[in-house]
Amino acid sequence: MGWKVYVTREIPKAGIELLQQHCEAVEVNPDDRSLTHDELLRHVKGKDGVLCLLSDRIDNEVFAAATGVKVFANYAVGYDNIDVETATRHGVIVTNTPGVLTDATADLAWALLFAAARKIVVSDRYVREGKFQGWGPLLFVGHDITGKTLGVVGAGRIGTAMALKSKGFQMRVLYADPNKNQTLEDTIGAQRVEVKTLLQESDFVSLHIPLLPETKHMIGKEELGFMKPTAYLINTSRGPVVDEGALVQALKEGRIAGAGLDVYEEEPKLAPGLTELDNVVLLPHVGSGTVETRTKMSLMAAENILAGLRGERPPNLVNPEVLSGT
Ligand code: GLV
Ligand code: GLV
Repeated sequence: MGWKVYVTREIPKAGIELLQQHCEAVEVNPDDRSLTHDELLRHVKGKDGVLCLLSDRIDNEVFAAATGVKVFANYAVGYDNIDVETATRHGVIVTNTPGVLTDATADLAWALLFAAARKIVVSDRYVREGKFQGWGPLLFVGHDITGKTLGVVGAGRIGTAMALKSKGFQMRVLYADPNKNQTLEDTIGAQRVEVKTLLQESDFVSLHIPLLPETKHMIGKEELGFMKPTAYLINTSRGPVVDEGALVQALKEGRIAGAGLDVYEEEPKLAPGLTELDNVVLLPHVGSGTVETRTKMSLMAAENILAGLRGERPPNLVNPEVLSGT
């Protein structure tokens, strides 16, 4: 119906095709890189809907430039990149892609946990470099996973899925969350504890919390100090939840055994010293990165935009207050 939509970077084509079926024009950033903020400001002008990424900062300036935009559909479950309060004030709908990426992200947390505990990445590098001279009793010994204690910080969709997958490894599971999680307690006997207790008792700590003002640097020097020297920290949520500088220091001094990170405080920048450490596995924010999941996210974001443009309530509305006045 004459709608113009901008997509800030190429995504799986299912969603683009859906948009093309219903819109007059669908413009996709042709370059395989994030837009600069200035480019973003330029491209949102004159559009009705925008499909944006977690790497696009949707702030005051963007809302000021995007006077015609009714919907910003984030291609992610996390939406800390969007100033939702300002969106609501401007009457702009914000949506995300929850649910479809829960298992992919929980699976990746496990991949990091295994990779860190069993030194997979450094071992692979060693073999490739031609250093493997035969079996060695002390060669790349890591830590057991089966039977250990898993601590999940944040028992929402992803944290719950991550914890439930521990079943095959007979783990004791602790979780920290403002709310009781009956599913976790009933199915795997998980126990709700304070964050401090979780950090003190867990062999693996996996973070599954959104980035909010109150969760920024939730894991800092003091919290890392509560962890056992044999424990591992896994982060697939948002980088700023961890004080990355403090983590580098803890890893360097062996105050924890290791870490597995998919996210960073100032992506794509890394804290100084991080890449020099062998006891950390580093991934480039690929938690939802499977063909199946990214395709579902693409359709979901497109459906959210179309619903918003039609004046319907989008299935994954982040700011319901925006509709209450209408
Ligand atoms: C990825 O980090 C997401 O929030 O979807
Ligand atoms: C994120 O979607 C979560 O609820 O874990």
